[in-house]
Amino acid sequence: MQNNIFSGLFVGQNFIILKEVDSTNNFLKELLSNSKPLMEGTVIMAENQYAGRGQQQNGWHAEPGKNLTFSMLLKPAFLHLTDQFDLTRAISLGVFDALAPLLGGKLKIKWPNDIYYNDRKIGGMLIENLVQGGQIKNSIIGIGLNVNQDSFPAGLSNATSIKQILHADYDLKTLLSEICRHIEAWYLKIKAGNILAVRQAYLSRLYWLNESKSFKTQHNVFTGAINDVRDNGLLVIKNNIGEEIEFSLKEIEFLNKAVQ
Ligand code: BTN
Repeated sequence: MQNNIFSGLFVGQNFIILKEVDSTNNFLKELLSNSKPLMEGTVIMAENQYAGRGQQQNGWHAEPGKNLTFSMLLKPAFLHLTDQFDLTRAISLGVFDALAPLLGGKLKIKWPNDIYYNDRKIGGMLIENLVQGGQIKNSIIGIGLNVNQDSFPAGLSNATSIKQILHADYDLKTLLSEICRHIEAWYLKIKAGNILAVRQAYLSRLYWLNESKSFKTQHNVFTGAINDVRDNGLLVIKNNIGEEIEFSLKEIEFLNKAVQ
């Protein structure tokens, strides 16, 4: 019998490892539509995900066997649809807390749900909520984390990995188990209604919080500082004439290079 590497109550208690799959999110979605109800906390991990999907119709690249690519099933029916972003917060915090002991203070959450080390992306997530009868019946949480990959294709110059930072390999299953443990803890906080703690923790770990930086919208480039995230997940940036402006993901781009 395989040893249970997961220490939580339910996240990871049903654990499936696939040698190869297009996308663990797709696989989990198909399982949900084809079979009997799946246990909350089911985790599907792939050694090789050859058609990984990212946010905003992007792909997700991961060298086989070197990284974490997995999806988790949660059933946050208790969450109002208007508070869906609390789930994003909880998952981001879980991934962050699993990495923080390894990577320390340069680790941040880049709004809305990227994991950054310095100015580079180490991981991201694709959360797909399946809504039925006004409730989130199933939430497919897909997480990709760059762990033991030494280098990235030229088009991904912004990516980094644990290996690039620590110059050492890290055990994938140990990390997976830590992520699941921390996600479960944050998830149970939102389930218990401890929303304020989750919102405060998320904000305090935010990349570029209260720093004067450059941003780009469809119409212009401007300088401002992130000073809040609304309950519903909109990003709030205070521009240099003191106006607070709210943005959704498609409306704003972080400009990492100084504007000339
Ligand atoms: C992003 O930052 O763009 C989100 C990346 C999400 C990638 C993960 S890898 C496991 C799961 N399966 C997918 O196809 N995507 C997510």
